[in-house]
Amino acid sequence: MRILAPSLILSLIGACGASAQPAQDPDKRAAATEQAMTDTERTILTWGVMPNGMLGAKIPAESIPGAGYVAGIPRLNVPALKETDASLGVAYAGGKRKDGATALPSGMAMASTWNPALIERGGAMIGGEARAKGFNVLLGPGINLGREPRNGRTFEYMGEDPLLAGVLGGAAIRGIQSQHVIATLKHFALNNQETGRQFLDVRIGDAAARESELLAFKIAVEQGQPGSVMCAYNKVNGDEACSNDYLLNKVLKQDWGYKGFVMSDWGAVPGVEAALAGLDQQSGAQIDAAYFFRDALKDKATADPRYAARVADMNRRILRSIYAIGLDRFPPVIEPIDFKANALVAEETAREGIVLLRNRAGALPLAGTVKRIAVIGGYANSGVLSGGGSSQVQGEGGPAVAVSLGGEIASVQALEQSYQAPSPLKAIKSLAPDATTIYRNGDYITDAVTAARQADVAIIFATQWQTEGLDLPDLSLPHGQDALIAAVAAANPNTIVVLESGGPVLMPWLDKTAAVVAAWYPGARGADAIASVLFGKTNPSGRLPMTFPASLDQLPRPKLDGSDTVEPNIAGMGKPGQTLNVDYGIEESDVGYRWFARQGITPLFPFGYGLSYTTFAYSGLSLSAGKSVTASFSVTNSGSRAGATVPQLYLVSAAGTALQRLAGFSKLSLAPGETRRVQLSVDPRIMARWDKGWTIAAGAYGFALGDSAAALGSVQTVRLGARRWKD
Ligand code: BGC
Repeated sequence: MRILAPSLILSLIGACGASAQPAQDPDKRAAATEQAMTDTERTILTWGVMPNGMLGAKIPAESIPGAGYVAGIPRLNVPALKETDASLGVAYAGGKRKDGATALPSGMAMASTWNPALIERGGAMIGGEARAKGFNVLLGPGINLGREPRNGRTFEYMGEDPLLAGVLGGAAIRGIQSQHVIATLKHFALNNQETGRQFLDVRIGDAAARESELLAFKIAVEQGQPGSVMCAYNKVNGDEACSNDYLLNKVLKQDWGYKGFVMSDWGAVPGVEAALAGLDQQSGAQIDAAYFFRDALKDKATADPRYAARVADMNRRILRSIYAIGLDRFPPVIEPIDFKANALVAEETAREGIVLLRNRAGALPLAGTVKRIAVIGGYANSGVLSGGGSSQVQGEGGPAVAVSLGGEIASVQALEQSYQAPSPLKAIKSLAPDATTIYRNGDYITDAVTAARQADVAIIFATQWQTEGLDLPDLSLPHGQDALIAAVAAANPNTIVVLESGGPVLMPWLDKTAAVVAAWYPGARGADAIASVLFGKTNPSGRLPMTFPASLDQLPRPKLDGSDTVEPNIAGMGKPGQTLNVDYGIEESDVGYRWFARQGITPLFPFGYGLSYTTFAYSGLSLSAGKSVTASFSVTNSGSRAGATVPQLYLVSAAGTALQRLAGFSKLSLAPGETRRVQLSVDPRIMARWDKGWTIAAGAYGFALGDSAAALGSVQTVRLGARRWKD
């Protein structure tokens, strides 16, 4: 009989822990592996680096260019975590990855689909690409609510409503994790502006937080079961989000029973004590003041039983996610990617996410017989705009156009306003082969107006670039585009504006245009999706996931907090010791359309709004109340084209209080004349208020069905009994 060396015995225990246990028992497996760890091994999974050699960190031999790397423990068959950004696909990593990836349309475009099944497919697509490039952790999706439309990361997120963002976030997570890649729900929580992001302090009450952004995260956690949650840069009520006992221990782990792990955002860890506040893993440790979760954590664990208990728990949580999602059993296999097939997923998402905002007298769809088309501006001869920062994805061959920001700061130089091929001009030409289509860059109004005058139709591509690290000073279109649109629309009544923006914009020229299409940042096949909508190959079905205000005065904060005190800086850094309080006590949980309803003000375009080339009728709303409320109603395509719509059910009064909350939605495609009955079950939390637990007051609850938050049918009422329950 052979005598095994102790290390080999241990590694066999580890291997058993990893493979002999049933796959469905990640808790037991995690506990067994944690038990088998040496003290030194217990602080291996607790920290990672950016594998780029930055700030003196060694580039780990087996790492691949990406956002993060956490070493594994081969003796225990624990794989290293290889992390890539993010929600829209495998990121470009500031140009370090030249291998190309499929860019999904922006989060705002995805949210505009209101289609969880499609978002899940997108998640599976990008998760699959991550895996094929050797990654096993994807740092998305991000679902911070669109509380601040000037937020430079609005484009990454899923809009302003907790139900919509939560359901879609959950779908993205399921898709990503179906590929045995850990999804990371971020940025927990209340990270709603970039100005002063590393030190701003969000002031918000428990109820306001639970009924808004925390509800979005809770729904996404329930529906997606993400392996990881990333805490945010900002403070919440005085404590850094990554060292915030309330957010991490109380809400996430205690109240919600979350079993996965919390990783920090990059450079968001204030100290080793964050471990006691619920942080499980320090990411990109070289950016923080110290590698807190390496030696300092080990020393603390030796001296202090509270830390020792936390370290065991941190390891169990990380291991649990590794096992639950199968990272050890299904390691990434580097293999070629079918970019053609994946581009179709991106294109379908873009087509469903495009929102038709205005269509005067059937200006769209364009007739195939149109003779002369002037395409103006937005680099439409090259590509479609994309958002900047860590989520930036580039296809094979890199950007079609990259506009440098210049300057002296290296991190800023790495950012470019980039446009993704193919070009809308080419896509338009291919759908109007008999027309003469010309392009003008829109730099000079005279030139654009001359071209527009000679055309049957002028299509202006208007752009507004957003990036992580910088907020927008206001919601106007930059570089004189408002004046350009007004002049072109005055010259040609058939002016169609295609907006490529990160989120809401103001439209002083709206009434002069024939049509407006919100295409957002439409991703790898955005150009084809836009042309498809313009020429009616796609009947638009996108609906706004955010309110478009008519002016900044309508917002809870007409002035962006910090815009006059914090130097705009891509890294979001302020001066040492700088503080910035952001008071969410103004709107509390009434984010976006809820605020507009509360104030009785009319936006430019309401939440949920979007036109179609056909018409729909909703009828026969009936409600029944059991443990929750079930609504059923009929939807008819009353026009002459096939199309999809999104009937939306809103709660409009709760036990005598007028309010507005999205209570349910469904996306359905109908043939002309077709009617379908839809049934929706309302999440009881939508009807409840938070008061140290969810509370439904006895009384009448009014619901209305509509096309948007501002176009609702008659109100139906149900009576509910009093009820109280824990989260
Ligand atoms: C961003 C995260 C991102 C991380 C890693 C941070 O600056 O806020 O969203 O995942 O960097 O690149």
